[in-house]
Amino acid sequence: MSEAVEIVEVGPRDGLQNEPGAISVAQKVALIEACVAAGLPSIEVGAFVSPKWVPQMADTDRVMAACGPYPDVKATVLIPNLRGLEALAEARTTARCEVGEVAVFVAASEGFSKANLNATRAETLERAGQVSVVAKSMGLAVRGYISCVTDCPFDGPIAPSEVAHTARELNRLGADTLSLGDTIGKGTPERVSAMLDGVLQDWDASRVAGHFHDTTGRALENVAVSLDAGLRTFDASVGGLGGCPYAPGAPGNLATEALVPFLHARGFATGVDEVKLAAAAKLARQIREDARANA
Ligand code: HMG
Ligand code: MG
Repeated sequence: MSEAVEIVEVGPRDGLQNEPGAISVAQKVALIEACVAAGLPSIEVGAFVSPKWVPQMADTDRVMAACGPYPDVKATVLIPNLRGLEALAEARTTARCEVGEVAVFVAASEGFSKANLNATRAETLERAGQVSVVAKSMGLAVRGYISCVTDCPFDGPIAPSEVAHTARELNRLGADTLSLGDTIGKGTPERVSAMLDGVLQDWDASRVAGHFHDTTGRALENVAVSLDAGLRTFDASVGGLGGCPYAPGAPGNLATEALVPFLHARGFATGVDEVKLAAAAKLARQIREDARANA
């Protein structure tokens, strides 16, 4: 039997957050539905972040009320602080889509931490720890993101030891799983391998995901070295949607429709239907075009 790789679809959050034009709740729900139909097992459906910072995610409560239930899908939302967790708790009272996991996020660099969360790395780790404790008391799993694991748009190249230190802290603070973000997509296979060597001192590879952006066209090579290191979870975004509004020069995430055939060709099972995935990717590109036309 083929070995399984889990794909975490981040398009509805990491993908859409970057679009400046209006995207309706109905469009967001349609995208999530298309991802579910394609068999994607794990989907990041939105974020409870400050609407002043990321206006595109301000309607995540309404998205959660309008989509699902999806009994076979793990739905995740991004949470920066306890205020976001309170907003999630409120949204759960009207939700059809059952969120089972929160994603906390910190950076491996001070420059990006300040730009993205208006706080130092130490402060964001403290917040992530607070969110983790309360989320677990709510029965939620906790995913820890680290951004800028090879390069920061402000601080330049990042030492693997900085990433390893941040990963160790997230482990200590109770994150169940870890996602390593090459936020601006400058990572090379050699540097990704060196970074993984450090992180995997403290984390079992089965709990670690690779999150690559395809800026220089090397995202799939970075997936390949991550597979060699034992990782079996990868984040990707339908239609290659994405980027981060606080990471200048960060274009799209690795496209899910590029990742899935790459994995299938190497004999891994993903449970994703490539034909239905192509339809989801087409919809994602259409939503992006409409949003840009509206901007
Ligand atoms: P701040 O301005 O320092 O916070 O922002 P504050 O505590 O002073 O609050 C400012 C206002 O926001 C207040 O409202 C708060 O109530 C409100 P006001 O009193 O002015 O009306 N507020 C909130 N509202 C809703 N939900 C909340 C919330 N928190 C405060 N949770 C803050 C600090 C963390 C809030 C802000 O910096 C923020 O929201 N940042 C999020 C930025 C973001 O979402 N970036 C994109 C995601 S990260 C990413 O894409 C990378 C990743 O995908 C991996 C990769 O690719 O590498 C994960
Ligand atoms: Mg990303």
